[in-house]
Amino acid sequence: MSLSKSKPKPNVNASPAATDSAESVVSPSSLEDVSAQDSSQGHKVSDELSFVHDAVLLQEAVAAVLGVKSLPKQTDDAGQNSDNQSSLRMSGIYVDATFGRGGHSRLLLSQLADDATLIVFDKDPTAISVARELATTDSRVKVVHDSFATLTDSLAAMGITEVDGLMADLGISSPQIDDGSRGFSFMRDGAVDMRMDTSRGQSVAEWLAKVDDETLANVLYEFGEERHSRRIARAIKQMDSFESTLELAEVIKVAHPNWQRGKHPATQSFQAMRIFINNELGDVDDFLAQSIPILKSGGQLAVISFHSLEDRRIKQFLQRHSKGQYPEDENLPMPPKRPRYFSKPKRVGPSKDEVSQNPRSRSAWLRMATRTDTEYQQTL
Ligand SMILES: C[S@@+](CC[C@H](N)C(=O)[O-])C[C@H]1O[C@@H](n2cnc3c(N)ncnc32)[C@H](O)[C@@H]1O
Repeated sequence: MSLSKSKPKPNVNASPAATDSAESVVSPSSLEDVSAQDSSQGHKVSDELSFVHDAVLLQEAVAAVLGVKSLPKQTDDAGQNSDNQSSLRMSGIYVDATFGRGGHSRLLLSQLADDATLIVFDKDPTAISVARELATTDSRVKVVHDSFATLTDSLAAMGITEVDGLMADLGISSPQIDDGSRGFSFMRDGAVDMRMDTSRGQSVAEWLAKVDDETLANVLYEFGEERHSRRIARAIKQMDSFESTLELAEVIKVAHPNWQRGKHPATQSFQAMRIFINNELGDVDDFLAQSIPILKSGGQLAVISFHSLEDRRIKQFLQRHSKGQYPEDENLPMPPKRPRYFSKPKRVGPSKDEVSQNPRSRSAWLRMATRTDTEYQQTL
């Protein structure tokens, strides 16, 4: 983990030039689809920092984490950003758990007062170098290169025990998918890596070399909802090496008996391996659980997800902790009521305009809720 400091910088929203990239594959609105392939042909970028990410549900997520219905208008009559007049200048401590290229963080910073703090997390070393750059010009920004699953410990290391707002924009970013060398894409060649944090952990290639057919099939089924998981797992395990994402995608394509129009047959398998190798669902569960003790009474939780495996988890978490119902696992005549830690859970999707401008947003859902003043019970 590392921390850095700096001072305020003007708001620069994410560029609208992002390409349509893969993200969700459980839903049919997969993002690295065949149509995306055409638009990305001939796309040559040598420096990963130059890849752009178009922030999804930007205004909605930032308003949610600040606990307001909407943000003040960001532009003046000349269409320019109109700095202080359009800022809520909110004080407090906020967390952007998935910095990416900082689209949400920058808009959030534009709404924060000079004495506010924004702690940003990312697993990805390139995202972290962009965050550190921002932190050198904005002293409100503190950077953590680690999983958001370390939320409580990472904040404690900074002397922070509670925060006013927590947001996460889950999954992978466009720069990660657009850079074939990261291994996330089945349309651009690269090493079969797929780690978000390339500084630690095993790559998918290393895992594939030693995993047995059955475990691989279970991963493809559980994290990709791939119905032909056994057949695909057998074909993958017959490969001589796992050096090329395009070769891996081709083997899956040949083994897949049921192609769907407009969707690469490797979509679900790639998603499954990526989710598994990065422990994505486990990290989300840990993050959500920690949001209860770390959020102040009245604090806001806002989480964007791109596929049903994640969205379902967030929905069930908020249901479990917002209704005060009896815990299902206790079969006692008068079980204690579950404490009600969240109120006003709400779900928001992208507008038609956003989907037409940024097709990557089409499977996104933002879920938000307000922390109640119920005291946290350690026995949870
Ligand atoms: C969808 S992008 C976020 C984009 C960002 N909101 C923006 O506007 O640029 C998701 C980011 O979260 C990071 N990420 C995913 N899981 C993570 C985890 N468990 N801990 C920390 N970062 C994670 C990824 O590396 C990626 O950079």
